[in-house]
Amino acid sequence: NRLVILFQFYAIYGFGVAPVSLGSPNKDGGSSYCAPQHIEHFSKFSPSPLSMKQFLDFGSINACEKTSFAFLRQELPVRLSNIMKEINLLPDKLLTTPSVKMVQGWYVQSLMELLEFLDKNPDDHKVLGEFVDTLVTIRNRHNDVVPTMAQGVIEYKEAFPQDVATNQNIQYFLDRFYMSRISIRMLINQHTLIFDGTTNPVHPNTIGSIDPHCKVGDVVQDAFGSAKMLCDQYYLCAPDVILQEMNLKKTNHPVTIVYVPSHLYHMLFELFKNAMRATIETHESSRNLPPIKVMVSLGDEDLTIKVSDKGGGVPFRRIENLFSYMYSTAPAPQIGDQKRPPLAGFGYGLPISRLYAKYFQGDLQLYSMEGYGTDAVIYLKALSTDSIERLPVYNKTALKNYKMSQEADDWCVPSKEPLDLSSYKVTK
Ligand SMILES: Nc1ncnc2c1ncn2[C@@H]1O[C@H](COP(=O)(O)OP(=O)(O)OP(=O)(O)O)[C@@H](O)[C@H]1O
Ligand SMILES: *[C@@H]1O[C@H](CO)[C@@H](O)[C@H](O)[C@H]1NC(C)=O
Ligand SMILES: [Mg+2]
Repeated sequence: NRLVILFQFYAIYGFGVAPVSLGSPNKDGGSSYCAPQHIEHFSKFSPSPLSMKQFLDFGSINACEKTSFAFLRQELPVRLSNIMKEINLLPDKLLTTPSVKMVQGWYVQSLMELLEFLDKNPDDHKVLGEFVDTLVTIRNRHNDVVPTMAQGVIEYKEAFPQDVATNQNIQYFLDRFYMSRISIRMLINQHTLIFDGTTNPVHPNTIGSIDPHCKVGDVVQDAFGSAKMLCDQYYLCAPDVILQEMNLKKTNHPVTIVYVPSHLYHMLFELFKNAMRATIETHESSRNLPPIKVMVSLGDEDLTIKVSDKGGGVPFRRIENLFSYMYSTAPAPQIGDQKRPPLAGFGYGLPISRLYAKYFQGDLQLYSMEGYGTDAVIYLKALSTDSIERLPVYNKTALKNYKMSQEADDWCVPSKEPLDLSSYKVTK
């Protein structure tokens, strides 16, 4: 029925011009010669950030697979294309590394697979089933994006002397790239989990990957347990945890939040690994390790989690670099290297955890006292109405940020020699 298909075309493209060759999908699945036009087209749309409430609505009373399908077949190409435009802005020498090329290939292939669904009928059950399968394929294809990109950055770093400007560019790009990836996986997970027709046997009340009553204390204990197990294996000991909760409104009630438990777990697990390593390495000679203290506090606006260790801290000057993808302190890990200490890997623990926190408008910050210890603080939005996806958009502002070269400094450089004040002597 050509009319219906035509109508759907215009519904999708608004008033825009339909890109070339969309009507003839690539039957062999591999012909991506027209990918640049599609990327160009879809990158003109801004991604639509969803709120926690919208995520819940998609998966509860209003659960409608057709609506979700119709939304995703447009939104996923938009998010993919927006970030693909930014990949192209990377320095040439990074862009041409085999690792980055491989990642780029995955993105093109996934985009083309999604576009196949633009002219398909949402009322057809077979189409909906195929869509779920395609999403699963895409999710698996992109499993190794982070280590592969990291490998590309390492290759680039080893081959070329780093300058501050490129470094800033790569940091800016990777933060946006990984954030985009987190959001795309969130969309895929919600659709596949909600519409595969089963309930989660372990957590029957979750909606996709979201727990409307996520008990923060339980996630803290889980993450601590896993980190402790790793730590015990490697160091044959591990510090204890002391957990304290404050609930402003409901005193003595456990703190809960509408959140993605796996994201919270990821952040806490990374913070615990770091805290344990620091604690053990600064108390090697002592028999009793100072415990890691966790404070969870729920207020009107924020849910804050502080992880405090007495692991000797980090000098203030280095704090910013701990979140850098380029200045990672970890030695370049060899792929397949089994002997690497499990508590320190790529050095991506902190930057990626901060992205998870920022994804729903939170943040992650480190406050350290060198010689004593470190407080790592996770800020989350207490209200689900404030928890809205934070997404990069490719537009002129983003483009300008890539083009901005290192500007000359506008602060004095301290002189190494003490100033010779004698020349200022006023002769009387
Ligand atoms: N609580 C802490 N106390 C002291 N140093 C810390 C602490 N947390 C992080 N650091 C320092 O920051 C660096 C970066 O931490 P990050 O978690 O990002 O990477 P990593 O632990 O080296 O590797 P990965 O987490 O990827 O396995 C660490 O190597 C460590 O030197
Ligand atoms: C880019 O997009 C952001 C978010 O939509 C917007 O605030 C900003 O003004 C845009 N920049 C330009 C130049 O359009
Ligand atoms: Mg770490």
